[in-house]
Amino acid sequence: MKVLSGIQPTGRFHWGNYFGAIRQYIELQGNEQSFYFIADLHALTTIRDAGELRQNIADSALDLLALGLDPEQATLFRQSDVPEVTELTWLLMTITQMHLLEKCHAYKDKKSRGIAADAGLFTYPVLMAADILIYDSDLVPVGQDQVQHIEVTRDLAQRFNSLYGEDCLVLPEKHVLDASAKVPGTDGEKMSKSYGNTIPLFETPKRLKKIINKIKTDSTPVEDPKDPETCAVFTLYKLFASPQQQEELAARYRAGGMGYGEAKNALYEAAMEQFGAAFERRAELESRPDDVEDILQAGARQARQKAQAVVERVRSACGLTARPVMV
Ligand code: TYM
Repeated sequence: MKVLSGIQPTGRFHWGNYFGAIRQYIELQGNEQSFYFIADLHALTTIRDAGELRQNIADSALDLLALGLDPEQATLFRQSDVPEVTELTWLLMTITQMHLLEKCHAYKDKKSRGIAADAGLFTYPVLMAADILIYDSDLVPVGQDQVQHIEVTRDLAQRFNSLYGEDCLVLPEKHVLDASAKVPGTDGEKMSKSYGNTIPLFETPKRLKKIINKIKTDSTPVEDPKDPETCAVFTLYKLFASPQQQEELAARYRAGGMGYGEAKNALYEAAMEQFGAAFERRAELESRPDDVEDILQAGARQARQKAQAVVERVRSACGLTARPVMV
């Protein structure tokens, strides 16, 4: 099976990124093809500071490797190191109907808030379709918010195939885990950098504790029973805990006599346990920037080889000439 996913370097990764996507990247590595990339071209639609983008890209690579992406089992690369993806974007753009993009949420949200959207944001889903289709991907692990884009990708592949030949592009499937499809943030809404409610993955223990203490809870008195299923702290705790640990904490919620502070403490402890080793690996990797760069460049070479073969197939299907040999 050919697995592929991408993540934007728009700031430090958070728990939503990890449970919604990165954990699945790691579980799915070692497949026939496990391609994961840092979506720097997509990030250009929001970050306009070159230094900030450069730093975010470097941080993203460190985070992914520290969290367990293994270059022996997975191919990690920067999206912009495979320029063929922008060529496929254009080829797909020529068959993309406007109404398909008009209903996509990133553009629609911005428009509804009266913010002028540029063509990059409007056509963002076409670049994402090219990202997926250029590697003949079968399976795309993502969180719920990306499902619409995978549906657009399937629509575009189908339309392209009906115009140019059924075997041209592979239709991908999404891989979304119900339990972590929409990880809540500190305000109980979807965790997202744009909502300012994130819990970053690599945070100092002191700051992490402070952020966890800010998670919104209701005002049920300590002695009263509480409903774990409507509490963001418990929803987050479930992501870390075994079924037995979940049951134990849920029973304490229901029994009463436990304040939310205790649940927050349990969440903090669980997070420290889960990410402690990644902290150490990250510090170690940070001291070897050349090795990280080598991993990214080797990844790009591998990804590019596949991308070139697929683009040649697509070019020929559309009637473009075979690419001249570069001198
Ligand atoms: P991005 O960078 O916003 O997010 C990366 C991944 O994290 C998931 N995610 C969440 N999952 C559950 N709960 C949350 N609160 C949460 N927040 C983020 C996202 O669903 C995503 O899987 N357009 C993509 C990047 C991209 C891509 C691709 C993905 C570009 N090309 C090709 C897959 C295939 C994006 O903006 O993800």
